[in-house]
Amino acid sequence: MSGPIVVVAGATGAVGDEFFALFEQRKFPIGELRLLASARSAGKKLTVCGVEYTVEEMTAGSFAGVDIALFSAGGARSKEFAQHAVDAGALVIDNSSAFRMDEDVPLVIPEINGHLVDDFCAGAGKTCEGIIANPNCSTIIMLVPLEPLRRRFGVERIVVSTYQAASGAGAAAMRELETLSRAALAGEAVEPKIFSEPCAFNVFSHDSAMHPETGRNQEEQKMIDETRKIWEDAEIGVVPTCIRVGVKRAHAASINVTLSSPASESKVREALAEGEGIELCDDRTGNSFPTPLKASGKNDILVGRIRPDETQDHADGRYVGWELFVCGDQLRKGAALNAIQIAERALGV
Ligand SMILES: NC(=O)c1ccc[n+]([C@@H]2O[C@H](COP(=O)([O-])OP(=O)(O)OC[C@H]3O[C@@H](n4cnc5c(N)ncnc54)[C@H](OP(=O)(O)O)[C@@H]3O)[C@@H](O)[C@H]2O)c1
Repeated sequence: MSGPIVVVAGATGAVGDEFFALFEQRKFPIGELRLLASARSAGKKLTVCGVEYTVEEMTAGSFAGVDIALFSAGGARSKEFAQHAVDAGALVIDNSSAFRMDEDVPLVIPEINGHLVDDFCAGAGKTCEGIIANPNCSTIIMLVPLEPLRRRFGVERIVVSTYQAASGAGAAAMRELETLSRAALAGEAVEPKIFSEPCAFNVFSHDSAMHPETGRNQEEQKMIDETRKIWEDAEIGVVPTCIRVGVKRAHAASINVTLSSPASESKVREALAEGEGIELCDDRTGNSFPTPLKASGKNDILVGRIRPDETQDHADGRYVGWELFVCGDQLRKGAALNAIQIAERALGV
C-alpha cells in the first residue's frame, strides 16, 4: 500500500482513541498502521477505519521502517522510546512534555508557528526524521484564540484561569469520574485513586506537582514557559491558575488579555472571526456561550463572553484589556488533532 508507515504509541489511551477517529474523519494517508501500548495490552484488538489491528507491546525494536510515530504514552515512555523511532528514520510527534522545552525541538501549534514544521522538514524526502513536540493542552486551548489578537494588536499580558476536564489525566481518570459520580449519587463513599481529591461534583487545584517556592503547579508553569517559546517572546506575562473540574471532556478557560495597542469591540470580533481553528459562540441575547459539552468532539476552540475590561487603559471606545471565555476539546485540538495537523504539514497533505 502506498502512504507512510504510521505508529501510534499509546494506542489504547484516551488520546490514542482520538487519533483513530481523526484518521477516519480527515482521511489521513496511511500505508501501514501499527498500534503500540504496554505489555498489558499486547494482543488486544482495536478497529481503526474499519480494519482490525492487534496491539503490540512497545519495544526498542518497534519502529523499523516507520515514517511517522505519534507518541501519546506518557513522558517516561517518550524519553525511553522516541530516540529509537528517530534512529529508525521516523518523524516523532510527541504529545508528552518530555521534549517540549528542548532547544532543538520545535514546539508547534500549526495555526501559530506551523512554518517550523516546514523548516524542520525542509529538504527531507517523504518525511523528515526527528522530534516535534505538541504543546500542553491548556496552552493550545489558550493560544489558538489569542493568536489573531496577537497578530493584529500584540499581546502584553494574559491572566488565565482554567477549568480542566478529568480526561486530561487519561482514560483511567475518565473512568474514575464515572465511578465516583455513580457512587456519590448512590450515597456511597469511594476513595479516589487517580486524583488526590474526589473529582465528581468537585473543583480543585490542578493535580500536577506544586513547586514549594513559586506556588505554581507544573501545569501553570507549562503554560508560562510554552507560551514564551511558541510566541518567541521571553517578556510575555502569563499568570495562570489551573483548576480541575468534575467534567468528563473538554477544558474551559477564562482569559483576561492585555493587548499592546487598544482595539474596538468590532475589531476584536473581526480578528477572532477571521482566526484559524476558532468558532465564535457568543450569543448575548440567548445567554449562550461555550461549554465543555458543546466543545466535546469538535476540532475548533469555542470563543465567547467577548467583552472589554473597563478597568484597563481605554479611550474613544478602544480598550487594551479584553475578557474571553473559551472551551476546547483537549483530546482533539489539545492533543491528537494538533499532532495530526503537524503530521499532515510534514507530509505536505
Ligand atoms: N488526555 C489528554 O487530554 C492529553 C492532552 C495532551 C497531552 N496528553 C499526553 O498524552 C499522553 C497520553 O495521554 P492519555 O490521556 O491518552 O493517557 P492514557 O489514557 O492513560 O493512555 C496512556 C497510554 O500509554 C500507554 N502506556 C503506558 N505505559 C506504557 C508502556 N510502558 N509502554 C507502552 N505504552 C504504555 C498505555 O497503554 P496500556 O493501555 O497498555 O497501559 C496507553 O495506551 C500523556 O503523555 C499525556 O500527558 C494527554
